[in-house]
Amino acid sequence: MLATPETSDTVNPAFRDDVLRGLAEPIPSISARWLYDRRGSELFDEITRLPSYYPTRTETALLTAVMPEIAAKLPPGLAVVEFGAGSATKTPLLLQAIRPAAYVPIDISGDYLRDSADVIDESFAGLQVLPVEADFTRDLTLPAAIADRPKLGFFPGSTIGNFVPRSATDLLRHFRALLGTGARLLIGMDRIKPVERLIAAYDDPQGVTAAFNLNLIERINRELHGTIPPDAFVHEARWNDMLGRIEMHLVAVRDVEFTVEGRAFAFFKGSSIHTENSHKYGQRGSRLLLLAGGWTPVAEWSDPAGDFALILAEAQRNRFAP
Ligand code: AVI
Repeated sequence: MLATPETSDTVNPAFRDDVLRGLAEPIPSISARWLYDRRGSELFDEITRLPSYYPTRTETALLTAVMPEIAAKLPPGLAVVEFGAGSATKTPLLLQAIRPAAYVPIDISGDYLRDSADVIDESFAGLQVLPVEADFTRDLTLPAAIADRPKLGFFPGSTIGNFVPRSATDLLRHFRALLGTGARLLIGMDRIKPVERLIAAYDDPQGVTAAFNLNLIERINRELHGTIPPDAFVHEARWNDMLGRIEMHLVAVRDVEFTVEGRAFAFFKGSSIHTENSHKYGQRGSRLLLLAGGWTPVAEWSDPAGDFALILAEAQRNRFAP
């Protein structure tokens, strides 16, 4: 997930609109997608290697352990469609085990997409690598070359957790429409666990997640002529038990006034800008979410501690059911 960095001369209108609208909301919030400029993506990479951030290493170990079982459930000649440019470790694990005919990574960041697609291309002789530069949450067209192939969608990392359930359902339905009836989806979902572990994962002692969150302020100042004093806000990770999610906030440590693109904003001490949600799902919740999105779970794997789940689901033909 890497967005093109903008300079102050070329304002990204979507970023500007999101920030100006979000800061003016009664509960101020800015979409988490804007956390990922070049620096934000580097910091996220660092987060994935932190001792307290368990999801990446747990999912990778799980994939390694259960890949032969997953591969045994899949037909030959597959086209793997990955939602996101692909991780340097998880994607090769999948491709190595299932040996698909084609690999289609979809990502909004062209440079990042091409770089990672080139690495895959070089490592897997005979694999058709067909990168698609697009926002996978929007309408897009898959390469004609995979039209007749059975398809497997791959959506690891618990990225689904960054969408509120209503949007997550829409996204899953969109994946279904894109991949078609009969397709499979392999998806990673983070599990609910003790609050202390969740908070430690999203507010690490090294301060990397804090830097990741606070980088948004620097980005706003740099790209949208912002005057937000960086020391006026601190990072906070909160567990919202009712909604089953970790929330990241930027909390004002004092009353503060600033402008963004010439628009004035005021925050009282203790008020916050909500910058990210990371939903965690229990076994029933994750299955229900998939079903609501048009995917029938057919197999599920978890690490021994039950921290993280990989679910294989199918886009089964709609049938009349009582
Ligand atoms: C990308 N996504 C799955 C991460 C998560 O765990 O929700 C983003 C993240 N934010 C803070 N730490 C990690």
